[in-house]
Amino acid sequence: MPDISFSERNSAQRVTERLDKHAEGPLQAFMVPFIEHLHKLIRETRPSQADWRRAMEFLTDVGHASDGRRQEWVLLSDLLGVTALVEEINTNRPKGATPNTVRGPFYRADAPRLALNANISLDGVGPTLAVNGHVQDLDGKPIAGATVETWQANSEGFYENQQPDQQPEFNLRGIFTTDDQGCFRYKTVRPSGYAVPSDGPVGQMLGRLGFPMRRPAHLHFLIKTDGFETISTHVYDGSDPHLGRDALFGVKDELIGDFKPTGKGDASTLDFTFTMVRAKKGRGMT
Ligand code: BEZ
Ligand code: FE
Repeated sequence: MPDISFSERNSAQRVTERLDKHAEGPLQAFMVPFIEHLHKLIRETRPSQADWRRAMEFLTDVGHASDGRRQEWVLLSDLLGVTALVEEINTNRPKGATPNTVRGPFYRADAPRLALNANISLDGVGPTLAVNGHVQDLDGKPIAGATVETWQANSEGFYENQQPDQQPEFNLRGIFTTDDQGCFRYKTVRPSGYAVPSDGPVGQMLGRLGFPMRRPAHLHFLIKTDGFETISTHVYDGSDPHLGRDALFGVKDELIGDFKPTGKGDASTLDFTFTMVRAKKGRGMT
């Protein structure tokens, strides 16, 4: 008879020894530390049975609030900074390179390809913004022929796919190709920041704990070209008051843009340079 004693001291070991010793792979590698950390957390926080039942009820509610249109689990990961941490671990770039941030749920792969200088605001609602982008490598050499996908919220903070009945399809989305100087240009409207959903179990619980629920105004970019790591990032409006408390930990100094007033009405321009890093083997176009 093997030792079956189960105590506060040996509980994690009793569980991990159930894993098949010959099994290999990422799940096995993850599960051992996961079980050890979980048991340590319980030993340290010492929940009552009622506390733990409430924790199980919360996780059940998170599952019930998730479906094909809404992903409450992803929101939990985002608000706890785990999505940003995974991004950080996987795309730790050298100084001078444009960092990645979370892609988020509003991306559409089927946006239209547009000519340079196109206007991606199909309803023209909001203060105009002219975007002049430049794509270069770490030596400052322009990258011609890079594919630049952009998407953004409107001037009220909603993406086109959140409001299919109120915004034209593909509003504020487009795919461009950089010219010989590595430049792309388009017209749009200035986006607003927005609140992440706070009506589900995650928003309710973390909101009660004082977590910020707003994202500062930003433009999304996905930039791809052969031989370079794909950039999936945001450029933030440097004047947004929520810049220091992004709900999702996506703001980085290198991603803060200067939305400059042109002096003509409420129009502004943004000049921004994206710096790509050569792909290591097995990393690049994703
Ligand atoms: C976004 O910026 O679109 C976003 C990113 C992550 C989660 C929710 C939204
Ligand atoms: Fe966004």
